[in-house]
Amino acid sequence: MVRVRRFRYSRNLQKRPLGEANTSRMNARAPKGTTDMLPDVARAWEHMNRVAQSLFARYGYEPIYNPLLEHTEVFTRGIGEATDIVAKEMYTFEDRAGRSLTLRPEGTAGVVRAALEHTLVQQGSSAKYYYSGPMFRYERPQKGRMRQFWQIGVEVLGAAEPSADAEVIALLVRYFQSLGIPDDRMTLLVNSMGDDACRPAYRDRVADYIRARSTGLCEECERRAETNPLRAFDCKNPACVEIMAEAPLLRDELCDECAEHYSAVKAHLDLLGLPYREEPRLVRGLDYYTRTVFEIQAEGLGAQNGIGGGGRYDRLMEEYGGPPTPGLGFALGFERTLLAMESAGVEVPAPARAEVYVARVDESVADEVFALTQRLRDGGVAAEMDHQARSLKSQFKQADRLGVRLALVVGPDELAANEITVRDMQAKDETRVARASVVETVRAALG
Ligand code: HAM
Repeated sequence: MVRVRRFRYSRNLQKRPLGEANTSRMNARAPKGTTDMLPDVARAWEHMNRVAQSLFARYGYEPIYNPLLEHTEVFTRGIGEATDIVAKEMYTFEDRAGRSLTLRPEGTAGVVRAALEHTLVQQGSSAKYYYSGPMFRYERPQKGRMRQFWQIGVEVLGAAEPSADAEVIALLVRYFQSLGIPDDRMTLLVNSMGDDACRPAYRDRVADYIRARSTGLCEECERRAETNPLRAFDCKNPACVEIMAEAPLLRDELCDECAEHYSAVKAHLDLLGLPYREEPRLVRGLDYYTRTVFEIQAEGLGAQNGIGGGGRYDRLMEEYGGPPTPGLGFALGFERTLLAMESAGVEVPAPARAEVYVARVDESVADEVFALTQRLRDGGVAAEMDHQARSLKSQFKQADRLGVRLALVVGPDELAANEITVRDMQAKDETRVARASVVETVRAALG
């Protein structure tokens, strides 16, 4: 049976006051927008990674781990100079040799850069990778929005067919389902961003639309008309939302190839019986997208409700100077996913606990206890012992606290008889077993 334990991720995020006495000490707080993953949360992260590894392997993905640092150009060229991420949110610095480096704000750009560097995709072939790790964006922290956050993502390089889009979307849905998030607490949104054939003319139309109404829009959106007009669809300002609700939609202006691709993606989603909502204003915050984009939003998270999202980026490899190589993928945010799990009452596996406690009657048998505990662990038994010379009574109390099933008691009497006392902590009965075969006896007793 899988043991579970209630956890509260939001509690992990709370910062406690450090108190008067600490004022002369070093600042012990983690930097703003970052947090320590304390054991309950770290265990949830490991659980999420394990679920990802076993599920993604079934879809043929291989692991890839890129540097946390990249040359800044990887992101400025890839994500786009006019995006919020590149314009305002990157942690960029010069190293000691004067190179401009950036802490990765996302994983896609690094995977595509690596694919180009190591020629991972031969012409006509395809490759599938997954990754997990920390990302960095200098955003205003709030619930579900951190400056260092953790993502799990996949990238498929070389596949242009719409069935690949549907497969990637289905994988993201299946992942959240595998974690136990109920279907009725998630909404899948899909859209098409068009391509170089249809998007430039549409962008100009949106820019003209914004300029014609600039007095009603916020200053940022006014500026966006000149730099990145489609970002105005993402503005949360109520006046901008109202104006953008009437803006022309790319859905109505897709070129034939993009419209056909989009229809085929939706047909494949229908084939799998995956419910989705078309959201023609879904633009996402990265400029590398072409054609399909998607996002999964979860209940109970407030404003930051996008737990995972992605799309197609067929021009990104060429943008880096590589051969034409279609690509697509997704990333999901660990913190938001955990908040979604918490708000849906989903539980994560409880910590593995010690099964056996090795107690000593007095210090004369300390070495025997130390060696026996190691023998148990080497034999695959989760065993614990005392390192603080506590009394036998305190050792039993600790064994109770740990919830072990068996306590092994070692004393001078036992050693003289070449035996160990085995105490069943629930039944409270004791038996003596041969010292040489105690590990096998304990394993058999634990089943
Ligand atoms: P993204 O939508 O920017 O896409 O991020 C993916 C997920 O990361 C979001 O859905 C959210 O859960 C989480 N996330 C983003 N920013 C933060 C933050 N500041 N704090 C906490 N969580 C955050 C990408 O990153 C693309 N690379 C996805 C992709 C892969 N597209 C194609 N392949």
